[in-house]
Amino acid sequence: MKENLRQVRERVGEGGGKGVRMAGSGSERVAVELCKGINGLDKVVLRGPRGSSAEVYLYGGHVTSWRNDNGEELLFVSSKAIFKPPKAIRGGIPICFPQFGSHGSLEQHGFARNKFWSIDSDPPPFPTNSKSFIDLILKPSEEDMQKWPHSYEFRLRVALGPGGDLMLTSRVRNTNADGKPFTFAFAYHTYFSVSDISEVRVEGLETLDYLDNLQNKERFTEQGDALTFESEVDKIYLSTPTKIAILDHEKKRTFVLRKDGIPDAVVWNPWDKKAKTMADFGDDEYMHMLCVEAAAVEKPITLKPGEEWKGRLELSAVPSSYCSGQLDPQKVLQSS
Ligand code: BG6
Repeated sequence: MKENLRQVRERVGEGGGKGVRMAGSGSERVAVELCKGINGLDKVVLRGPRGSSAEVYLYGGHVTSWRNDNGEELLFVSSKAIFKPPKAIRGGIPICFPQFGSHGSLEQHGFARNKFWSIDSDPPPFPTNSKSFIDLILKPSEEDMQKWPHSYEFRLRVALGPGGDLMLTSRVRNTNADGKPFTFAFAYHTYFSVSDISEVRVEGLETLDYLDNLQNKERFTEQGDALTFESEVDKIYLSTPTKIAILDHEKKRTFVLRKDGIPDAVVWNPWDKKAKTMADFGDDEYMHMLCVEAAAVEKPITLKPGEEWKGRLELSAVPSSYCSGQLDPQKVLQSS
């Protein structure tokens, strides 16, 4: 059954704890709440039944926090992040659309991450087993259409699963009335929080081809071992498996990414020199973050009028186990 705007607002709750409450436990946890964030920007707080939470700013449709049941923050947001238009928030999960990178006439990584999104009062039916979710929508203004002359509806659902998993679903529809198709690139530019970048390994990208942004986008093939990090990295891995694991040795934590409809994966860490050139990023913060971004870059997506594209990302954080002194990523990658 569809909700109207009033029902959505009731479900979401505004500031005073009016939103959806957890069933059964008698708990006062509000599952979805609209409140004010930094600089008075609107944000939606999602709360899971056992303590997990997520925060989504309407500015950028931008997830800025994802906490596990113990309240530990799993995403990196820079201490210098500027929560003010037109700068995108440094950290969390910026949405890159309709462009990835800085080629072409649009701003770097497109405009979606620095637009104000709305709460979607009329989302198409989309089943969920979660009470903690929010549907956002972005549509172009007339001014936007001068920069990118296309009409679209971009729907973003952010949901917190009962086990604390974070699920993002993007649906882009071509609503052009002039019969014209459009083409776009996309990324969930996810900044993971890690204890120490030199202790981190990424599994699932071995032996794949990648474009190296640090070498004029030249194409190379990755070697057979897990990725480790000792200098700046900015690579677009092509047509990757749907599952990628980030193993944080020191934290004994593994992030598992599952993606659907989003073929590529970008791996980025600016390291020390580039960090110093970024005004909204601390000099040493590169040690505590890693971007692994589900992306559609190499083969941009084309939609005819009326067509819709869907791209899904599911993130979970699981305790890592040791096997002969090593983390055992295969266990994580093989289990469903
Ligand atoms: C990565 C790109 O995804 O984002 C990098 O591959 C870029 O080339 C980085 O430097 C950060 O981009 P921005 O626009 O958020 O500073």
